[in-house]
Amino acid sequence: MALEGTHESEKLVSASQMNKEATILAIESSCDETAVAVIRGNAQRADVLSSEILSQIQIHREHGGVVPELASRNHITALQPLIQQALDAAAVSMSDIDAFSATAGPGLASSLLIGHTAAKAMAVATKKPFIGVNHMEGHLLSPFIERDQGIEENLALVVSGGHTMLLHTKAFGQYELLGKSTDDAAGEAFDKVAKMLGLPYPGGPEIEKTAVNGDPSAFQFPRSMMQAGMLDFSFSGLKTAVLYTISELNPDTGTAQPQQLPDLCASFQQAVIDVLVKKSVMAAKSVNAKHITMSGGVSCNGALRAAMQQACDNNQLTLSYCSPALSTDNAAMIAYVGLHHFLNNNFSDLNSDIDPNLPLNTLILRN
Ligand code: KG4
Ligand code: ZN
Repeated sequence: MALEGTHESEKLVSASQMNKEATILAIESSCDETAVAVIRGNAQRADVLSSEILSQIQIHREHGGVVPELASRNHITALQPLIQQALDAAAVSMSDIDAFSATAGPGLASSLLIGHTAAKAMAVATKKPFIGVNHMEGHLLSPFIERDQGIEENLALVVSGGHTMLLHTKAFGQYELLGKSTDDAAGEAFDKVAKMLGLPYPGGPEIEKTAVNGDPSAFQFPRSMMQAGMLDFSFSGLKTAVLYTISELNPDTGTAQPQQLPDLCASFQQAVIDVLVKKSVMAAKSVNAKHITMSGGVSCNGALRAAMQQACDNNQLTLSYCSPALSTDNAAMIAYVGLHHFLNNNFSDLNSDIDPNLPLNTLILRN
């Protein structure tokens, strides 16, 4: 994403415009969800006028995971009607939109290109600005969409299918990366363990459902890198431990029996939760943050939400996360970041490209 440079004078102008309202239409097509949203708001408050999502989960489920070519072909057919649906649901027309945003990365190249190109085309046709958005910044700031105080300093845990990150958010665009996964992301571990257990894709919600009837202390799975001050994550040892346990329990077949699933799911889920909660509190204390935010698909997990709330209560920290529809991939979070870029006069060039590996640190300001 190439954001045009902004001069100090422009920043001052934008600061004085902070109360002006803007209406942003955004497209999210980084993976297997086609999503379009319209948001209207200012620096403090944003109203999601519409947030339409066409899930491709059923298409990819038969393959046990996302097939990139199928995803991009389905984005193409889904997108045009979904844009109209989002405009209709928001009760706005194309001429009401002040800027068009789309996810520029990270994600699947062929999927990103569809939404990115469509948003640019709308920007050209209406002579309005185009703003490329980092998908991870969308997740990172999503807990603020439903709050009316604007973006506040916090310690953020971002847990999705591709990333596990701890960031100190100081303000919009000022993020310090404190820790990240050195191997599998938390969501990836949920998906891979679900596959080992014969549960369908995506694995997170299936493991959560199955774990409800299980004992989280039935198996003592490893919690890696828990030493004081260590804020990186590793989930591959945990995944391997589940694999060995399945083999030990079932030496003849090597596959888990239905009656073993609740305890295996509950014990695996508890190991992930213990690590995420402990490191989030440790990270918050390390930067003296008083507020924790949690975002990304894994943050939908009810047991994680309850454990994080308990830990925050015990440590005089406050916690926020968004409703499940805004936690998994959606376009409202892309529109929200687009809105803040718009208010700061940050616009992308029309010849800017997608980047499947777009790092959040293009925007990170380190101390
Ligand atoms: O943020 P997201 O929708 O997409 C990415 O950007 O990756 O996250 C998807 C991930 C998947 O790995 C999925 O299994 C996981 O979030 N997930 C969950 C739950 N719901 C979704 N993991 C644990 N518990 C859940 N309830
Ligand atoms: Zn995502």
